Amino acid sequence: MAVREQFSSRAGFVMAAAGSAVGLGNIWGFPTQAAGNGGAAFVLMYVALAFLLAYPVLMTELLLGRYARANAATALEKVSHDTPWQGLGRFTGYYGMVVASLILSFYAIIAGWMLAYLVEAFVSLFGLSAAESWLTSSSFARDFLFCGIFMLLTMGVIVGGVKKGIEKWSSLMMPSLLFLLLCLIVYVLLQPGALEGLKVYLIPDFSQLADPGLLISALGQAFFSLSLGVGTMLVYGSYLSKEDSLPKLGFLVTLVDMGVAFAAGLLILPAIFVAQNYGAEIYTDGALVAGPDLIFRILPHLFDSMGSVGPWVAVAFFLLMSLAALTSSISMLEVPVALVVERRQVSRPRAALLIGTIIFGVSAGIMLNFDSWFGWVVDFTTKYSQPLLGLLMCVIAGWVWRRSELLIEIQKGHPEIEDTLFWKIWPRYMKYICPVLILITFIHSVYPIV
Ligand code: PHE
Repeated sequence: MAVREQFSSRAGFVMAAAGSAVGLGNIWGFPTQAAGNGGAAFVLMYVALAFLLAYPVLMTELLLGRYARANAATALEKVSHDTPWQGLGRFTGYYGMVVASLILSFYAIIAGWMLAYLVEAFVSLFGLSAAESWLTSSSFARDFLFCGIFMLLTMGVIVGGVKKGIEKWSSLMMPSLLFLLLCLIVYVLLQPGALEGLKVYLIPDFSQLADPGLLISALGQAFFSLSLGVGTMLVYGSYLSKEDSLPKLGFLVTLVDMGVAFAAGLLILPAIFVAQNYGAEIYTDGALVAGPDLIFRILPHLFDSMGSVGPWVAVAFFLLMSLAALTSSISMLEVPVALVVERRQVSRPRAALLIGTIIFGVSAGIMLNFDSWFGWVVDFTTKYSQPLLGLLMCVIAGWVWRRSELLIEIQKGHPEIEDTLFWKIWPRYMKYICPVLILITFIHSVYPIV
């Protein structure tokens, strides 16, 4: 059997894992949620949740993956040894694989829209108005084409494997993404009206935190943002060297993910208010625009009003979105591909093309039945399945996996870990607190009592 690939360096892993984490969830989801839910008060609660709940689950996944050096199903089976829990492990791995694939099926549609708007921004430089209007009006043909292109890009990276695909492309795309984000923030903050947006984002309104529903959406957001539950981080962890300290790397990835989410708020909120300054209507029924309306109506309105720099700002913005989507989508596709390659002895290129095509087929189904399927798939995967899978991972790592084995694994790359605060808190935390907290929030999201 061929030697299993690994990331070539720590930086390569951080780029890949942060690339997976930083996605549309950070740049689009987080700022709008924060703005609508108490601004800085939401940001603070999110930071607390990310470190208290999401980081421990991230650690669990990274450790499981590196210990087993395998895809999620095999890894979760392996830590169960020959106990009756093996079946649960296998089930969790396969369930995660289905959820990762379904997330990709809707994510690729949205990413396709970003690509269409990116092309539109270029086209507008040449004044081709017929093409522009086709690119910005929703149609099955447009969505099918651009979702297909996005899936091909995703498959292309995954065919390349861990070093020459995931690591190489993430290391190229992540710095570009950060650079674009920074340039856009500086530019937008200098525009009239930007300060108003900053105020909405940064002035805390603690009264809104009393709503328990908010805690749940913040938790969902944190899980989605750190790509948890579905086995993405587990698989990336399985390509890590035994010389690396997992608690430190996991911390770094969490920090980058949160940093980018926060920074995205410094772009999106001011941009909304700059758009208002140019005459855009930014409130619908008293609530600040969020959703597709924000990205595909308000922001294009803003770019159109900016004169000759407008198209370039639009190019930068939609390129930023497309890059963020691509570094995440490759991590989603890697989950089923790693599983099929390792368990079914299929070659990587074959697996990537086959699975990518099937997922694209599901995307096409969603596009054809958008109104009834899209919301359902999003809720099933992100609202219900991701927390449930995170819970199952914690239960398996905390209750089924032998504590001695876990310690040996975490000591690799961090020999003095036994004396650290991390080791005193985290194992019990993952075993008792995380499952209970996730369960409470999960039950609440299924039966919203308050
Ligand atoms: N973390 C990605 C985002 O914020 C989404 C994602 C979810 C990626 C699950 C991989 C797995 O957009």
